[in-house]
Amino acid sequence: MSTPSTIQVSRIANVEYVTLFRPEVRNAFNEQVITEMTSWAARAAVDRELRAVVISGAGPSFCAGADLAWMAKMADYSREENLRDARAAAGMFAAIDTLPVPVIAQIHGAALGGGAGLAAVADIAVASEDAMFGFTEVKLGLIPAVIAPYVVAKIGQSAARELFITGWRFDASHAKEIGLVHAVVQPGDLTQTVNKYLQELARNGPEAMAAAKALLRRIANRTIDDVVPVTAEAIAERRVSAEAQKLMKGFLEKK
Ligand code: COA
Repeated sequence: MSTPSTIQVSRIANVEYVTLFRPEVRNAFNEQVITEMTSWAARAAVDRELRAVVISGAGPSFCAGADLAWMAKMADYSREENLRDARAAAGMFAAIDTLPVPVIAQIHGAALGGGAGLAAVADIAVASEDAMFGFTEVKLGLIPAVIAPYVVAKIGQSAARELFITGWRFDASHAKEIGLVHAVVQPGDLTQTVNKYLQELARNGPEAMAAAKALLRRIANRTIDDVVPVTAEAIAERRVSAEAQKLMKGFLEKK
């Protein structure tokens, strides 16, 4: 018998809904989740019809982070095997982070450790009022490592220093204050809010959104002097594209 999938993927109108599906362990990720998510992301990255992705979790929580049974097992691994595994986890976050299409995280219940990391690699994170976040790794003698670059990019060094070192659990409104999530809504309004975002995204140029994401990545952590030429090149290329020409013409003709 083959092992059941740890993620469920469904597609509605060019939007792919990816649901983490290990509710019995609160969607903690192990090597199987990492493999399945990474190969899903590799497919999604080259899917020309895809317009957006929504990531959510089945059961009571979004994601409890790394599977601690899997982490504990590493003690019996060689350094090489241990490193290979860590690199695979890093690869999963990178694959989601670099998807050209908009990624929305729909978060309810707990989003801890790598679960909060998934919020960080999403372009838009929508959380239920009762969601709980935390970089709890230090409580377990671990550290938020492969997620750190994405988390720091979202919440900055100051918030990361406090939260990485205390391991505090914090609520959705604090997550919004520090920029980890963008919207906090009542539990019953989660889907509707995600749909509102999807409707907005559907009105935008898909190539333009991909180019905006690529530009943000290129200018991150570089000096203004360094990135000014990059920004000029990016808009010079974009404004003559067929998509931009079509959308601008449409706007001007409506007037
Ligand atoms: N890895 C492996 N198993 C986990 C897990 C994780 N990260 N998080 C939860 N589980 C398991 C529990 O061991 C439990 O298993 P059991 O039913 O065999 O006892 C099951 O999932 C349900 O967990 P429980 O704590 O009873 O559920 P809850 O809904 O009350 O709470 C959490 C959910 C996520 C808040 C809580 O489980 C938790 O704090 N987990 C630790 C998360 C963490 O610190 N992650 C960082 C990893 S680096």
